[in-house]
Amino acid sequence: MQDLKWWQKTTVYQIYPKSFLDTTGSGTGDLRGVAAKLDYLKTLGVGAIWLTPVYPSPMVDNGYDIADFTAIDPSYGSMEDMEHLIAEGRERGIRMVMDLVYNHSSDKHPWFIDSASSRESRHADWYIWRDPKPDGSAPTNWRSIFGGSAWTWCEARQQYYLHTFAPAQPDLNWENPAVRQALYEAANFWLDKGVGGFRIDAIVYIKKPEEFKDGEPDSDDGLVNIHSMIANTPGILDFLHEFKEKVFAGHDIFTVAEANGISPEELDKWVGEKGAFDMLFEFSHTNLEFPTGEIWCQATGYRPELIPKLKQVLTESQQATAENGWYPVFFENHDQMRCVEHYFPAEADKERAAKAMAVLLMTLRGTPFIYEGQELGLGNVAWDSIEAYNDISTQGQYEIALKEGKSPAEALRIVQRYSRDNARTPMQWSEEKHAGFTQGTPWLPVHEDFPRQCVTVEARDGDSVLSFYRKLARLRCSGEAAEVLQQGDYTELLPDDPAIMAFRRRLGGRSVYTLVNFSGEARSYELPEMAGAELLLESVPGSTLGVLRAYEAVIYTH
Ligand code: NOJ
Repeated sequence: MQDLKWWQKTTVYQIYPKSFLDTTGSGTGDLRGVAAKLDYLKTLGVGAIWLTPVYPSPMVDNGYDIADFTAIDPSYGSMEDMEHLIAEGRERGIRMVMDLVYNHSSDKHPWFIDSASSRESRHADWYIWRDPKPDGSAPTNWRSIFGGSAWTWCEARQQYYLHTFAPAQPDLNWENPAVRQALYEAANFWLDKGVGGFRIDAIVYIKKPEEFKDGEPDSDDGLVNIHSMIANTPGILDFLHEFKEKVFAGHDIFTVAEANGISPEELDKWVGEKGAFDMLFEFSHTNLEFPTGEIWCQATGYRPELIPKLKQVLTESQQATAENGWYPVFFENHDQMRCVEHYFPAEADKERAAKAMAVLLMTLRGTPFIYEGQELGLGNVAWDSIEAYNDISTQGQYEIALKEGKSPAEALRIVQRYSRDNARTPMQWSEEKHAGFTQGTPWLPVHEDFPRQCVTVEARDGDSVLSFYRKLARLRCSGEAAEVLQQGDYTELLPDDPAIMAFRRRLGGRSVYTLVNFSGEARSYELPEMAGAELLLESVPGSTLGVLRAYEAVIYTH
């Protein structure tokens, strides 16, 4: 039996603080609001909270554009509020995990203001500056992840600066040791405050290639997705191992990096004992509809044929960490649509869909990450004009869709599916006004389903999605299945079934079986090894061994 660390045995809950709970009537959530809900989170078996950025920010990208790495944005409260939250969490066995956004800062960060002021400034080489091409155009044809050129012109320096994301998010120059030192110091500041770990943003972009070259355009705008030009550039691991040594090593914390595209062969340098991080988020299961990269209007939409692919990538990710390393398990975050829409057709029973994803989340091997509202089974929103959307990436993708020849109505339909705002609507606490999120005017409209889908209503209903999550939390924390779910190995079952995802977790002599039917029809299956198994949990009352009803999920053991 492995000796698991605390963060391998717990469940992490991700909070988008702006949308969690407003205690001041400002219309945006705050840190006191998070502290007020710690007891609620305990009922979900949560041992750590990943807080998306709460630092001072002009909020161009809702906090992922940071103007000070060691302070709290006044809209979220004060440093005392943060200390209070850390202390209240500690009393309940819940640790705070900060988001480190170190690929870039805000263009309002004093470092960038100084860097942009002249080529001789103190911070002149803290960002990525390049001269124009001889014709005055941008140094390369790279497209930023939010759309448009990845380069913006600076009059004062007569140079362009690079931004993997928005122009308001200039990339930091990690080649400069002073930059790295300043970032490490900021992370150590939070360790001194007692945080329990870090989620590390967009880390695959920190190392830039030695030579900056044009790429083959991948769309009519003549640009190429920057991801394909700079992600995981050789040499990045030297930076990451230094980062580990100067910050994370020797602390009882966990680190989880946003790092897509790491092959199983190189995984041991990224995670595990010898790796730079404890875990990394990889996105093969959330990117299934995006065969060509990040452009939303090229996505396929939901198709039942994606389910075998989903099964395959989930199994591959389980296998990748079978011997070394550990993965988070997640189906939602603040950048994704709601999972009940993602993996099920529009006509599916959303409650069953939400429970099916809950079963997968809590029974795959790894640390489950629940994203706020997922435990209520929330779905997407569909606002009827592009102006209603706040997310910068939604605006950029809408423009790309129009340039690609889509009509405004088609472009709107595309963003309705993929917009990051789908996951950012205010948390639904009660049937009261604005779902109990605020006494003021919510910064983003509350989902219209809130009178039916909210914490108070679902807590009263023993069959709700929330009650189901609570049962799953108990299953993972105590009883005979708990150890198997935490530590057992993973074997895929029924690999050829196009609609049922099935697997066995095993530890010693005990097995736990998970079966999920992604189709809207009843399906039978044959698994002789399950004969005599005992039912642990069912998403629809009255299940029978050997048959799954539409969108049904079950857990058995023997
Ligand atoms: C990934 C974050 O999850 C996303 O919300 C953000 O826009 C980008 N990184 C840029 O920081």
